Amino acid sequence: MIFIKSILTPIEILLQTILYRYFQSSYCIAFVSSELFRFDYNKTFVHIDPEGRNLTNDLLEVSEMGCLDYIVRVNEPKDFIQNFDKVVHLGNTRKSDRKIVFLPESYNIDVVGNLMEILTMKETTFIPNVLIVAPSTNQSCESYDLITHKYIGLSNHNEPLYLDLWSSCTKQFTKNNNLFPHDMSNMHGKVVKVACFTYKPYVLLDLNSTLVPFGRDGMEIRIIEEFCRWVNCSVEIVRDDKHQWGEIYENMTGVGVLGSLVEDRVDLGITALYSWYEEYLALDFSAPCIRTGITCIAPAPRLLASWETPFLPFTLYMWIAIFFTFLYASFALTFAQGGSTKNVFLTTFGMMITQSQSDVGQSWRIRSITGWLLITGLVLDNAYGGGLASTFTVPKYEKSIDTIKDIVDKKMEWGATHDAWIFSLALSQETQIKQLVNQFKTYSFEELERKSYSRSMAFSIEKLPAGYYAIGEYITEKAVLDFTIMLEDFYYEQCVVMLRKSSAYTNKMNELIGRLHESGLLLAWETQVALTHLNYQVQLEVKLSRSKKDVEKIEPLALRHVLGVFILYGLGIIISIVIFILEIIINKN
Ligand SMILES: *[C@@H]1O[C@H](CO)[C@@H](O)[C@H](O)[C@H]1NC(C)=O
Ligand SMILES: *[C@@H]1O[C@H](CO)[C@@H](O)[C@H](O)[C@H]1NC(C)=O
Repeated sequence: MIFIKSILTPIEILLQTILYRYFQSSYCIAFVSSELFRFDYNKTFVHIDPEGRNLTNDLLEVSEMGCLDYIVRVNEPKDFIQNFDKVVHLGNTRKSDRKIVFLPESYNIDVVGNLMEILTMKETTFIPNVLIVAPSTNQSCESYDLITHKYIGLSNHNEPLYLDLWSSCTKQFTKNNNLFPHDMSNMHGKVVKVACFTYKPYVLLDLNSTLVPFGRDGMEIRIIEEFCRWVNCSVEIVRDDKHQWGEIYENMTGVGVLGSLVEDRVDLGITALYSWYEEYLALDFSAPCIRTGITCIAPAPRLLASWETPFLPFTLYMWIAIFFTFLYASFALTFAQGGSTKNVFLTTFGMMITQSQSDVGQSWRIRSITGWLLITGLVLDNAYGGGLASTFTVPKYEKSIDTIKDIVDKKMEWGATHDAWIFSLALSQETQIKQLVNQFKTYSFEELERKSYSRSMAFSIEKLPAGYYAIGEYITEKAVLDFTIMLEDFYYEQCVVMLRKSSAYTNKMNELIGRLHESGLLLAWETQVALTHLNYQVQLEVKLSRSKKDVEKIEPLALRHVLGVFILYGLGIIISIVIFILEIIINKN
């Protein structure tokens, strides 16, 4: 649309000036107005006519197309703001630095009150860049006041902030002020509310405030503190400790950290919030700040019961093979003896355990069979002897739980205090993961502490980037000795800061997190927090839980090693005595 400048009305000239000066970086602009504007503008824009239409649907449609800045000239600006806020929550496109310009319906002082009312609305408090163009009547030519809200500072955020005056006589601004002054770089002490709860080492609250400023610390608390140092805001912690991470209900209410965010009770949410899909639909995510691997500590494998040791040198298949060798050899001997089964099993068994034989007779058939059998027996016996020696000296453990498959096969419960641990797995279609999710249980802190001594379940922990672990406090120094960390991670996640959808803070937070990664500060903070606030003994035990068994590997023979053999011996004696007695009784009758 190219028009000659002279036929534009003053408001159109002003709008064109604003568009050229401030909207050059916009991808697309939505004009919400019943009349068309006439001006020359070189960027993408769409026009929405609010009359007699469903404004929410129209706004949603253009917002999904990427038209996220608005020029509005409507009868009811309050309606627009309400619809706009609905669309922010419904849509999936996000933009942190949205701009909205409200133009008057007509050059009439009556519309000013209507326009100014939007500054008092709750929905407006989330938009830093709202510009109201209001008719200014006590001027010689058609002129407009340019007004926004105070937004930053300690209080009175709703109050109007007079920015400039534009007059159609000069076609100039009087003060040439920036019309969108809130670039979030200096909040002048504005309070930023943060939802969190104590979860080491991400967030620690209620510390001794003589030792730690404000009595709070933690990897993510430090991100927030640094953020506020940077943009000059002040932190206010909002707590809902009972619900921890909480959840978001269908009706857009909720509890815990997530609920506080959805209901706009807070601006930022932290405490190991992973990039969960369901939450992304309702909230904004910052850039990832901490990469964490989720796995379990499972009960450590125990020494095998000693009666099993005599069987350990050979595998199951080897034992089966030996059994069949015995059968075939007995069969061959029977055959060689011309069908007589006299002493066949006893002789074969004897030769297999390298016992010398009494006279085998003159027959070469029998001699060759017994000859080969003696050689087989010699080999088997030596192999068994070697294997037995090694099972005696190297302690043998049960199979340890290393992978997801192991924990699923063993049907072992795993758990923590909240089911946030399985949010990331809940949508998986894999049968193994589904089974893993089914085995997850939540228990109270006390119950978990009690169960940590019973070897009945595994406990989920997080592996943090600098090599420390986030372990629930219910795992004590004493209990941790009996646990081994699993080799395989269940999954890994990126922790984010969550914010209201299209929050003004998102861009700044992303920029800060980028800088923190760049400088390596996040790793340094993790180490500092872990060393000051975590139980180092527990950390070390978990870290070394897989290597400590190497140390106690070789030991001298003790009674418990040979106990198994004696058990077998005892069993044999008992069985023989029973058979002996039975024989006597049966023969008597
Ligand atoms: C930060 O905000 C406080 C409180 O409004 C203000 O006094 C101070 O000058 C600000 N600091 C900077 C560097 O602007
Ligand atoms: C929203 O849903 C939750 C759970 O379904 C319910 O407890 C709560 O009362 C509902 N809130 C409103 C405002 O409807």
